[in-house]
Amino acid sequence: MLDYSKLAAALLLSIAWIGLVAQPAFGELRHYAKRRGEFETSADQPYSPIGYRSGGGGGGGVPGGSSPPQCQLEIACSGVSGRTPVRLPIQGPRGPPGERGPPGEKGMRGEPGRVGEPGRDAQMVPKVAFYAHLYNNTHRDPFTDGANSEAEPVVKFEIVELNAGSAYDPASGIFTAPVAGVYQIYVKIAAQGQRTAAVHVMTGSGSQKRLLFPLWCQSVPDWGDTSNQILVRLQRLDTVWVQYRQYWSSDKTYVPVWYLHGYSYSAFSGHLVFTDE
Ligand SMILES: *[C@@H]1O[C@H](CO)[C@@H](O)[C@H](O)[C@H]1NC(C)=O
Repeated sequence: MLDYSKLAAALLLSIAWIGLVAQPAFGELRHYAKRRGEFETSADQPYSPIGYRSGGGGGGGVPGGSSPPQCQLEIACSGVSGRTPVRLPIQGPRGPPGERGPPGEKGMRGEPGRVGEPGRDAQMVPKVAFYAHLYNNTHRDPFTDGANSEAEPVVKFEIVELNAGSAYDPASGIFTAPVAGVYQIYVKIAAQGQRTAAVHVMTGSGSQKRLLFPLWCQSVPDWGDTSNQILVRLQRLDTVWVQYRQYWSSDKTYVPVWYLHGYSYSAFSGHLVFTDE
């Protein structure tokens, strides 16, 4: 009878040996076993004297097919009636994948990147918008006031509600364009009760000046106002203002007096639509 405990010990040693020496050394074993002639060989496995067989498709350890090779260790004894081979698997089926390991440590900080190209200047779009109006009723009598004042007094809209860009000066009543571009100008006047008011909206460039548009308003029978709104292209530092209309009759005997209504009924405003720069 076979001593199975000794056999099992021998098998474990053999498994360890095969695991250590592995396949590359197996050819040597085959030659050794063939020379010794101590092991029987079977027809279908001529070089597997100790029963190392490769199943599942590939032969001689070459992977084949889709299933992993199933290997068995076979021990056969001579001098025993009949063959009583014992086969033990030496490689089990592939186990399930292991659990995902913990994340690795954070790597070292990388080298600083290259210095970028210099940026381009942002397009500067100035914010220019103003709105001012008359606080008090006011009038201009060229006959009484004109002798001691400028020929064309500017209407000063003193109450400044908005002055983005500070381009309107309430002390002088003059708007100065900070950049070249198209501007929208709006002027409204109201005349005091049963009176007349007339202004010229002017633009100046250096010593040159020209009329942008006139406004004329009569409170007939009791009340009236008028307004206009224009778009004008201005160069940088061109000015815009509102002045009392200069009017004399042809023989200069009649000098009108202009009565502007305050309390925000008369107003001057403008804003930059787009720049030309
Ligand atoms: C309006 O008129 C009053 C009275 O004359 C004066 O005290 C005041 O300063 C005027 N306001 C403005 C903004 O001109």
